[in-house]
Amino acid sequence: MAPVPSCPAEAIPLRTTAVDLAEADDFIRLCHSENPELGPVAPRLAEVHAEVAATGTYRHTPAELTFGARVAWRNSARCIGRLYWRSLKVRDLRDLRDPKEVADECVEHLRLAGNGGKVRPVITVFAPDEPGQPAPRIRNEQLVRYAGYEGSDGGVLGDRRNAELTDWAIAMGWRPPERRGPFDVLPLIVERADADSALVELPSDAVLEVPISHPELPWLADLGLRWHAVPAISNMRLRIGGIDYPAAPFNGWYMGTEIGARNFADVDRYDLLPYLGRRMGLDTSSVQTLWKDRVLVELNRAVLHSFAAAGVTITDHHTESDRFLTHIKKEEAAGRTCPADWTWIVPPMSSGITSVFHRYYDKEELLPNFFPGDTKGVCPIIH
Ligand code: ARG
Repeated sequence: MAPVPSCPAEAIPLRTTAVDLAEADDFIRLCHSENPELGPVAPRLAEVHAEVAATGTYRHTPAELTFGARVAWRNSARCIGRLYWRSLKVRDLRDLRDPKEVADECVEHLRLAGNGGKVRPVITVFAPDEPGQPAPRIRNEQLVRYAGYEGSDGGVLGDRRNAELTDWAIAMGWRPPERRGPFDVLPLIVERADADSALVELPSDAVLEVPISHPELPWLADLGLRWHAVPAISNMRLRIGGIDYPAAPFNGWYMGTEIGARNFADVDRYDLLPYLGRRMGLDTSSVQTLWKDRVLVELNRAVLHSFAAAGVTITDHHTESDRFLTHIKKEEAAGRTCPADWTWIVPPMSSGITSVFHRYYDKEELLPNFFPGDTKGVCPIIH
């Protein structure tokens, strides 16, 4: 494998400013008010202030980190699956900064989360950004991503969404399989401003996948469609009490429509509807026959059926919509608001027959939370 280019130090800005004390205070107070067993808040506030004055930053206690990560999930306005926010397993790996070690622990994350099919929500928190001390960053948007190989005609084999990541991996020395396919798992790429980047292949035992078949259409199994069991977002920044954790991959389990109504169906992803419509013998001459809608339903049945048959956790959009409304009720009973973004919460199919469609939601943004990874941290080599 060719030597891995290292990220130019100037590409990832070092944190130079001290932690925002007001944000730190708000978080510590929230943490103590929701966790009375932590005792009075005043001594902890004094400790945090002294630490920030001396070092520009502070270190969360393990209890603060766990609570902070769980509340970041609770505050994620785009997530319909928040009913189980308290169950998030938090892996405290804040002492890891080395890109190769970070990548190796991402592999372990996938094993723990996949759990033989009984998917567990997990977050792994790596080193934070600290003054003068750059944090590692994961370039892949999810720990498991399928390659997208762009042909000279502009067509793509695999997941078009990952075409750029695929080019980048190849530029770093990744060798695609001898026979390229539509579901080749990309290697992990972990970067740090002052270190060599790591390029690490995911061992197949860490990537639980489900072959897709249909309960009544036997030919669908022969297409070789598959999807991975664990959606682990890896390029979002976790922010707790003024501290940024740029590498903090987290996962829940899938809702079927994410795969069946988006990943397989979107025109800029696998774009399977036209092909499947023809294979199903539908009249595709006009959209008015609703052939796309009919394919979409069967494709989504196939996804749910296949995960169930493989013994892999998945949920459907009706169940999850009802659970989300239960979650909102519980939050309100606890005296909290539940910010939600309608455009993300409402499922991408059959929207009006799900319960989440028929109401509005609170919009305010709460902290702690997850934010888009900052693109300033991305090496400019191929941009
Ligand atoms: N929609 C993304 C995907 O299809 C995953 C986002 C997170 N989803 C989840 N169920 N936790 O891969």
